[in-house]
Amino acid sequence: MDVPCVAVAPECGEATRSALAEAGLLDDDHEIVVDDDTLYIPVSDADAAADAVADVAGEFETKTRDLPTRRGVRTPADILGFEPSLERIGDIVVIDEDDADRAAAIADAVLDSDLPVRSVLNRASKIKGECRVREWEVLAVDDAADDSDLAPTETVHREYGHEFLLDLAAVYFSPRLATERHRVVDEIQSGEQVLDMFAGVGPFAIPAASRGAEVVAVDLNDTAVDYCRENARRNGVADAVTAIAGDVREVTDDYHDWADRLVMNLPHSANEFVDTAVALAGDDCTIHYYDIQHEDDPFAPGIEAIRTAAEPEYEVSVETEHVVRSYAPHELNVCLDVRLRRS
Ligand SMILES: C[S@@+](CC[C@H](N)C(=O)[O-])C[C@H]1O[C@@H](n2cnc3c(N)ncnc32)[C@H](O)[C@@H]1O
Repeated sequence: MDVPCVAVAPECGEATRSALAEAGLLDDDHEIVVDDDTLYIPVSDADAAADAVADVAGEFETKTRDLPTRRGVRTPADILGFEPSLERIGDIVVIDEDDADRAAAIADAVLDSDLPVRSVLNRASKIKGECRVREWEVLAVDDAADDSDLAPTETVHREYGHEFLLDLAAVYFSPRLATERHRVVDEIQSGEQVLDMFAGVGPFAIPAASRGAEVVAVDLNDTAVDYCRENARRNGVADAVTAIAGDVREVTDDYHDWADRLVMNLPHSANEFVDTAVALAGDDCTIHYYDIQHEDDPFAPGIEAIRTAAEPEYEVSVETEHVVRSYAPHELNVCLDVRLRRS
């Protein structure tokens, strides 16, 4: 059937699909098709879709094209009779369920559904410790789908055209920050010197390197640093990413006055690292400072911490005050984009 679609190069496909999904413009009744090195993504409104993807799709066209109708997909909700709350990270499904019987029923339904899932995990603790890692209960593993050497907690997650190998039982990772990471990475110019002070498996650092930045990625968690190196290799940017294991306050002496851009994604305690950030900042440096604060005044504590550390050596200007997401009742996860210019 002839339907409107956006035609893009495959490397821009995921960013385009995500932008269309976010704008509510994906036509879910038809398949996405690849033909002659072009991806055809069905949309409900060609003109609105062109506007929605203008910044992410590279060179694209809107067209009308014959695309097949999507076959019926059996979802966990079809099997359970209710919509379970699920999060997908690569081929892992994550749930947060206290009731053991309900958890088991959801896990079975996920594996019996048409979702391409290898294992189902239940949250078994809060995110904890300096390395911000959670414990997991493995509820189910689909042995038939598991022809890999990966542990049930290990997967390859894809985000905006990059892939990240990671083990949820050993490192921090949240797919919920994908749009925020994309927002920040989109600002990066080729040739910039970017230092990610809390890099994890590299979801800021590696896309930054793909944009042509020279990147230093630091993390306290040795395992995260190993994954970051592997992910730099997988995404073809190993030469542009220097991954360093250790406390960023102790292992970055070689990078004083170096950074054009700093990413500080350690929201509960970023204020303890602002002196290090100022030491790493070059003459003109943008800091992306993540924080979790009460909704009444979520930006003031971060601005105060940065001004106290940076002034009068630097002129400090707050470029953006951005709410990333709601974190808990009355608490917000926010990002401050702050520019430091040496006075
Ligand atoms: C919230 S996670 C963010 C990871 C990554 N930026 C992401 O978006 O997935 C914070 C990371 O900071 C690391 N970390 C905590 N304290 C640190 C320190 N003193 N120096 C360097 N890294 C640290 C943790 O191991 C963890 O991987």
